[in-house]
Amino acid sequence: MKTQVIEINENNIDAQAQAGLQKAGDILKNGGLVAFPTETVYGLGGDALNPESSKKIYAAKGRPSDNPLIVHIYRTEDLVPITRGVPQAAYDLAEAFWPGPLTMIMNKSDLVPYETTGGMDTVAIRMPSNRIAAALIRTGGGFIAAPSANTSGRPSPTLAQYCIEDLDGKVDMIIDGGQVGIGLESTIVDLTVDVPMILRPGYITLEMLQKVLGNVEVDRTIIDGNSKLKPKAPGMKYRHYAPKGDLTIVEGTQEHVTQYINRMAAEKMAEGEKVGIISTDATYGDYKADVVRSAGKREDEETIARELFHILREFDDEQVTVMYSESFDDKGIGQAIMNRLLKAAGHHVEHV
Ligand code: TXA
Ligand code: MG
Repeated sequence: MKTQVIEINENNIDAQAQAGLQKAGDILKNGGLVAFPTETVYGLGGDALNPESSKKIYAAKGRPSDNPLIVHIYRTEDLVPITRGVPQAAYDLAEAFWPGPLTMIMNKSDLVPYETTGGMDTVAIRMPSNRIAAALIRTGGGFIAAPSANTSGRPSPTLAQYCIEDLDGKVDMIIDGGQVGIGLESTIVDLTVDVPMILRPGYITLEMLQKVLGNVEVDRTIIDGNSKLKPKAPGMKYRHYAPKGDLTIVEGTQEHVTQYINRMAAEKMAEGEKVGIISTDATYGDYKADVVRSAGKREDEETIARELFHILREFDDEQVTVMYSESFDDKGIGQAIMNRLLKAAGHHVEHV
């Protein structure tokens, strides 16, 4: 299959861009696949109500078919046909956070095929704020299944270039809308249980959800790496976000962390490994290794969220074999950063 790549500027959807979006929408309506930018990460879109489209998504990603897809909509009223009753909490959260980086789980209606929900009776739904995404969902028929547009097991793409790396020849079209704003996948909250529960942390934090809903729980498997419990979001059980090399997170006072990482880096390089380090703007100059990257400002964790997957991809491109990362504060969006970093590291943390 030949993959067409088109460029669209989210802030200037002119006539040419509209024509491109119309064409992309037609591809989706005809059962094809289109990768597109959202505010979180790039998505790999197909018609959520067409079981054949969902099968194609799984095939293109090499994803296990028991891992359900998120259905993307462009207006809140479209919750009605795809769910079995919309809980009040969903309307309250939609009011507060949609369009935006929040996915809600509800009971699905018969309109949503089991191919899309990985056999589950519930469906994950999100309304993205990226204007290219919103326009594409509309032209594509209103219900677009879209997992992150990476090969299963690789870090989610924050640039179109990474979609091309993973999906060229496997999808009909890739829409290049530049670098995404947030860089980590949406927060997922399950509304089918008595107390709403976060299944995947993201930009919309526990505190933000609690302000709207009151009581909210967090799936324990998110925080507890050694837990033998099964995560409630099937996708969270896979070693996601995985770079090709071995990543270790180093925790402790900054002085100890820097010393430890530099000592290990020197040792590993002497053994012939290629070493990459994730630092911050403040510590960038303190490290010596083959590849040193700054994730941004420690005080401004949004910069770190935006750069994390990008850096892991760069390490892959540079064929780094051993990586060390500083650890980050576990509050606010820091919880999502640490969740992804811990998964990328297979929960390997050194306390120094
Ligand atoms: O930000 C995002 O959510 C991005 C963009 C493209 O919108 N999408 C995304 O999709 O991250 P994906 O497929 O990579 O991750 C979806 C996660 C998986 O962990 C999956 O198991 C979980 O959502 N999920 C989907 N439906 C579910 C359901 N009915 N119950 C529990 N977990 C569900
Ligand atoms: Mg994913």
